[in-house]
Amino acid sequence: MGGTNRRGFLKTAAVGTAVGTAALSAASYARAGGANERMVVGVIGPGGMGTSHVRTLASQNDVRISHVCDVDRNRLAAAVKNAAVNGRAEPAAVGDLRRVLDQREVTAVFIATPDHWHAPATILALEAGKHVYVEKPCSHNIREGRLMVEAARRHRKVCQVGTQSRSTEMNKTAIQMIHEGIIGEVLSVRVWNSQRRGNIGKQKPSEPPAHLDYDTWLGPAPFVPYQANRAHGVWRWWYAFGAGDMGNDGVHDIDVALWGLQIETHPSTITALGGKYYFDDDQQWPDTQTCVFEWPSVGKNGRKKQMIFEQRIWTPYKMEGYENGCTFYGDRGMFVVGHSEGWRLYGPRNKEMKTMSGGVDLPAHHRNFFQCIRSGNRPAADIEIGHLGASLCHLGNIATRVRRVLNFDPKSEQIHNDKEAGPMVRRQYREHWGTPRGV
Ligand SMILES: NC(=O)c1ccc[n+]([C@@H]2O[C@H](COP(=O)([O-])OP(=O)(O)OC[C@H]3O[C@@H](n4cnc5c(N)ncnc54)[C@H](O)[C@@H]3O)[C@@H](O)[C@H]2O)c1
Repeated sequence: MGGTNRRGFLKTAAVGTAVGTAALSAASYARAGGANERMVVGVIGPGGMGTSHVRTLASQNDVRISHVCDVDRNRLAAAVKNAAVNGRAEPAAVGDLRRVLDQREVTAVFIATPDHWHAPATILALEAGKHVYVEKPCSHNIREGRLMVEAARRHRKVCQVGTQSRSTEMNKTAIQMIHEGIIGEVLSVRVWNSQRRGNIGKQKPSEPPAHLDYDTWLGPAPFVPYQANRAHGVWRWWYAFGAGDMGNDGVHDIDVALWGLQIETHPSTITALGGKYYFDDDQQWPDTQTCVFEWPSVGKNGRKKQMIFEQRIWTPYKMEGYENGCTFYGDRGMFVVGHSEGWRLYGPRNKEMKTMSGGVDLPAHHRNFFQCIRSGNRPAADIEIGHLGASLCHLGNIATRVRRVLNFDPKSEQIHNDKEAGPMVRRQYREHWGTPRGV
C-alpha cells in the first residue's frame, strides 16, 4: 500500500531544520490557529490506549482531531465514532500514517501503535514537521531510542512520551518531597510490577482477518506470518513487537524511580535473572524477573546508586499495598509510591508520616504536551527521559535473556565484551518505507 516512498513523501512534507525552536513552535502554532483556536491533531493507532487518547482529545475544547489512522478497518471506524462526539465533525479516516503526516493542517500526532512502530512512526512524523506524543516504551530497542532523540532535536519539535505519571499531581508532589530531602539521601529504589496476566495460548499461523492490513501492521519488522495471538494487544508478549511487561507496565514505575533518583544517565552495570516460570504458552518475554542496575558515582555526593526491578505477572495480590510502584530508600526514611493509587511516606522505625491517594492524569499529560508546543519548552516526559526509562527495560530484558552481568557504556550506548548481548541493543529490519535511517 502507499505508492509514495519515504523520500518522496519527505520532500513534500519536510519543514526546514535551520529555524529555531521558538520560531518553529510559533509556525506550528500559527497553523493551529492561535491561542483561542483548536490544535489540529491526528491519532495513529487508535486501539486500546489510542482509544483513550481519542476520547480524551475529543473532550478538549482547544483540540480538533482531523485524522485517525489505523491498519484495522474496524478499529478505524470505531475511532471515527469516538472522535465525532458532542457535535464534532468526523475526522478523516486513513490506513497509511503517511497520509496523516502529509497534511499541512496537522500540528501534532499521537502515536499509540504497538511498540515496534513507535520509533519508525515518530521519526517520520518529526521529519514531516509534526510534534509527537508517542506511547511508552518509546522504542523497541536502544538504538531506536537514540535516533528518536536525535530526530526530535534535529527537527526542533516537541516529543512527549506517554509516561503520564510525569504530569500527575500525586507523583509530582511525592517526587518534589524526595528531591527536597524528606527521606534524606536516596541511594536505592525498588520497582515492582506485580499483577495477574492471562495465558495467550498456543496458536498456529493463519490468514489475517480481512479488516486488518497485516503487512502494514508488521511494518519494518522482519516478516512472520499472521497468528491470532500475535496482533492486537498481545503483540507485547513477542520479542519482535514489544518489550514484555517490563517495557509495558514496568516502564511507568521505572520512569518514576529514575525521576526520584535524579538520574540523567544510563547505568553502567546491569544484571538479571528470570524467565517463563509460570505460563505455558506462546509468550516469549519473562513472566518472572529480577533485574539490578547500578550507576557509578552520580548525584551531589558522588555515591553509587542502585535500582532493583521485580516482576511477577501471575500474582493476584498487591505488593506494599500497590499493584505496581516503587519504594525509595533514603537514609532518613522510606517513600512508597504506588502507580495510579497513591503514596505513603515513612520516617525512621516505620513511622507513617504522610499519605496521599489519587490516580494518573492523562489529560494533564496532554495539556503539558500542548503547552510545550505553544511555548517551545521541553515536555514533562521529553523523549530523552523516555529513552532513559525505555533503555532500562531493554537492558533488563537483555540481561535476563543472557543471564549475566552486562557492562554498558552510557555514552556510546553499547554493551562491552559480550558477543551475544552486544547486538541486542538494536534489531533487524526488513526493507520497508518505515525503516528508519541509521538503525
Ligand atoms: N500510557 C499508558 O498508560 C498506556 C496504557 C496502555 C497501552 N499503552 C501503550 O499504547 C500502545 C498501544 O497499546 P495497545 O494495548 O492499545 O495496543 P493495541 O494492539 O490494542 O492497539 C494498537 C493499534 O495500532 C494499530 N496499528 C498497528 N500498526 C499501525 C500502523 N502502522 N498505522 C496505524 N495503526 C497501526 C493496530 O491496528 C491497533 O489498533 C503501546 O505502546 C502500549 O505500551 C500505554
